[in-house]
Amino acid sequence: MRVILLGAPGAGKGTQAKFIMEKFGIPQISTGDMLRAAVKAESPLGLKVKDIMSSGGLVSDDLIIALVKDRIAQADCASGFLFDGFPRTIPQAEALVEAGVEIDHVIEIDVADEVIVERLSGRRVHEASGRVYHTVYNPPKVAGTDDETGDELVQRADDQEVTVRKRLALYHEQTEPLVGFYAARQATGSVKCSKIAGVGTVDEIRARVFDALA
Ligand code: AP5
Ligand code: ZN
Repeated sequence: MRVILLGAPGAGKGTQAKFIMEKFGIPQISTGDMLRAAVKAESPLGLKVKDIMSSGGLVSDDLIIALVKDRIAQADCASGFLFDGFPRTIPQAEALVEAGVEIDHVIEIDVADEVIVERLSGRRVHEASGRVYHTVYNPPKVAGTDDETGDELVQRADDQEVTVRKRLALYHEQTEPLVGFYAARQATGSVKCSKIAGVGTVDEIRARVFDALA
């Protein structure tokens, strides 16, 4: 099964990705997590993208497409995968088509911009695993620490309000057109698209996502 999770920054892609991954046994491919790991490791890629990411800009299509092609060639992707945060532009989606990568299902998680800023200001993450929490809506068992490892949780560099607003504007401009792109492909029968209302508890959204994938 090959699935794309589409949605604005803070819509809950990473949160729901963990559930889909567990239930369907497919790896989560989060380009954001991969880039953050590169930044942390100060690899050549990380050094290139650090400033773009912390200012809320988009990394170039060429770099992203190369990163993803490399990742999906790995053995654990043979029976499927879940894209989280990719594709994010029409050229990225076209690159998948050109590479012959067929997608079964596109799930769009829909959340209004006003809700996003509040979600992202309370977000805390476990850097090593990508697990996501919220101080109010999805708190860890012990404040400030990851449930599974006990490691300290951190705030992302791009979660300040001014940066969040820039990311939202870029989402509407560059990523939202993908809804139309995949709707046109659905009309030819090559993919299934579902739009999920993304406001509600984490468990409610999970149930909606699982229903769509059933
Ligand atoms: P990326 O990491 O992909 O960030 P994003 O798309 O902006 O999405 P987020 O991770 O911010 O949100 P999410 O939808 O995963 O929400 P989450 O589940 O965490 O990308 C980061 C950067 O990398 C980009 O800005 C760009 O620079 C670069 N990049 C990455 N991919 C790229 C690409 N393909 N092309 C170019 N550049 C790329 O939830 C958010 C918060 O809400 C959490 O605190 C969570 O606990 C809480 N929450 C979740 N669900 C609920 C709920 N139902 N109710 C209340 N709170 C909830
Ligand atoms: Zn995410």
